[in-house]
Amino acid sequence: MTSNPTSRPHALLVVEALCKNFGGHQAVDHVSFALQVGAIGGLIGPNGAGKTTLFNCLTGFMQAASGKVLLDGVSIGGRSSSAVFAAGLARTFQIPRPFPEMTVLENVMVAPRGQLGERFWSNWLQPRMVAAQERETMAAARHWLDFVGLSSLEGQPARILSGGQRKLLELARVMVSAPKIVLLDEPGAGVNPALLDQIVDKVHALNAQGTTFLIIEHNMDLVASLCKPVMVMAQGQLLMTGSADEVLNDPRVVEAYLGSPV
Ligand SMILES: Nc1ncnc2c1ncn2[C@@H]1O[C@H](COP(=O)(O)OP(=O)(O)O)[C@@H](O)[C@H]1O
Ligand SMILES: [Mg+2]
Repeated sequence: MTSNPTSRPHALLVVEALCKNFGGHQAVDHVSFALQVGAIGGLIGPNGAGKTTLFNCLTGFMQAASGKVLLDGVSIGGRSSSAVFAAGLARTFQIPRPFPEMTVLENVMVAPRGQLGERFWSNWLQPRMVAAQERETMAAARHWLDFVGLSSLEGQPARILSGGQRKLLELARVMVSAPKIVLLDEPGAGVNPALLDQIVDKVHALNAQGTTFLIIEHNMDLVASLCKPVMVMAQGQLLMTGSADEVLNDPRVVEAYLGSPV
């Protein structure tokens, strides 16, 4: 029997003692955790807890002051955002900003991993390979647009999309790169209930196909229906990790949200 090493249970994302400060303010304070391959991790906590800053440090959009980040056993700490993306860790933004005048399809084709055409030499030396890869990227982009239900809008400028449709567009955009793990920053924010259900379904479906997720979210119904484990951040620190039930009923978590002892 052959065994596929990537499907065996193991920690896909390992974070050790990660720190990030803004001047004297410790926004991320010695955060450590491990997320298993195939998980849909949740990250919750009151506003200002440091969740987005943690995402920024994990994805290379900001450099941490200290600490380690390992993706599939490989250190990605200190790498640029494009290098982290190329390594297989993709993210969406709290407020998606698609290129407004580019079409929906063009927006999804913008950032595939390690596209040959971006490199001058390969462009010059291997035009047929580049053309073949562009065709492949377009096929993948169409596949993911279909998956998120935006195919009928592929020729429209992205500016016409609603907030919820922009979140679906982002999901399609990151899936084109075949990431190992996707970090979603507040996928439910500003999204109407029908589209929210769609987003939940899509995340479930992608997870069933093998994509690992880490999701920042304030909508606790969404967290409870999708996420395990759920990690709670408060004042830059990881307060606790558990099932949605465990963390939402923990007095320390209630206290963190209320900002005062219960
Ligand atoms: N670029 C920045 N410069 C200075 N302070 C920042 C910056 N980004 C975030 N902060 C501060 O760091 C803390 C954590 O913010 P953030 O990570 O956005 O929290 P969350 O996403 O949990 O709401 C807050 O006090 C915020 O004001
Ligand atoms: Mg945030």
